Amino acid sequence: MRKWRILAGLAASTSILLTGCGGRDTATVKTIKIGVTAYDQYDTFISQLMNELAQEAVEQGNKSGIAINLEILDAAGSQTTQNEQVKSLIEKECDVICVNLVDRTEPTTITDMAEKNNVPIIFFNRELVEEDLARWSQLYYVGADAFESGIIEGEIAADAFKENEALDKNGDGVFQYVILEGEAGHQDSIVRTEYSINTLVEQGVKVEKLGYAIANWKRAQAQTKAASILTQFGDRIELIIANNDDMALGAIDALKAAGIPQKDWPAVVGIDGTDVGLDAVKNGEMIGTAYNDKEGQSQQMLTLAFELATGGDLSDIELTDGKYIRLPYYRVTAENVDEYIERSRPEEN
Ligand code: GAL
Repeated sequence: MRKWRILAGLAASTSILLTGCGGRDTATVKTIKIGVTAYDQYDTFISQLMNELAQEAVEQGNKSGIAINLEILDAAGSQTTQNEQVKSLIEKECDVICVNLVDRTEPTTITDMAEKNNVPIIFFNRELVEEDLARWSQLYYVGADAFESGIIEGEIAADAFKENEALDKNGDGVFQYVILEGEAGHQDSIVRTEYSINTLVEQGVKVEKLGYAIANWKRAQAQTKAASILTQFGDRIELIIANNDDMALGAIDALKAAGIPQKDWPAVVGIDGTDVGLDAVKNGEMIGTAYNDKEGQSQQMLTLAFELATGGDLSDIELTDGKYIRLPYYRVTAENVDEYIERSRPEEN
């Protein structure tokens, strides 16, 4: 949270400063205010997405000469808190509010308030059902196509199985797997689980499911659950498929804690391409990940928010059904991981 505030503060002051230096007539300078509420600041991917959004605000503020004042709040896993936050962001006269719903089935309080006060809402990352998004014309969604990430994950696992005989530990020609799932009911958990396994099968790999666990996107929960799965199935596990990188890393924590040497680990694959996830691909602990394009998502979110806040033209923005922006995922393995590390952390290179 501290980090976001600093970045958000930086976004505001930097863009105001550059606006002042931009050689524009100060009479035309305008400030826009964008409120954001995230479902949980401790979620690794969301936290990185928020940092990216803050940087994007600086960049778009500089480019446009309009100061973007970004306020990012943490709903800490409570829909009631989030509803209160949206109320207060409306009272603070935000031009647009970006909402990462805590409970994607409960957007009504927020959409009613927004419509009453005529403040557009951009939902992101946690997708509400179509009917809820259709309730008012000024509701939008920015996210990614969940099925793509499942397909990429399945393809990475299928290729590894075909290329590396040693992964078939018992030599039975079947990939024995366990799956670590995100929150029950989250569109990404449901769709990723289905598509990753279906893709493995479509790629001609015979699979056998040994077990699964729900670990709510969290590394620590995944470690605990993976530890008991390891006790139950031990050496029979040849593949650990996780709905995100943090849970893949939790499984790796469990493998390490069990004292299993890396050469005997099952293949581990994730989704997100978080900093820690990319590092694990780089050092060979994970066989790959599907990059969840936080740069693209925050850029599109900010562009849309900016146009909505300034009464600008939406015609340059590609909106599916007038409401949706979906970014693709990208396949990351040891071969191209450096490219994504560079993309995610250019300052390190
Ligand atoms: C997913 C992401 C997860 C988690 C979740 C939160 O897209 O892969 O790591 O951040 O969103 O809604």
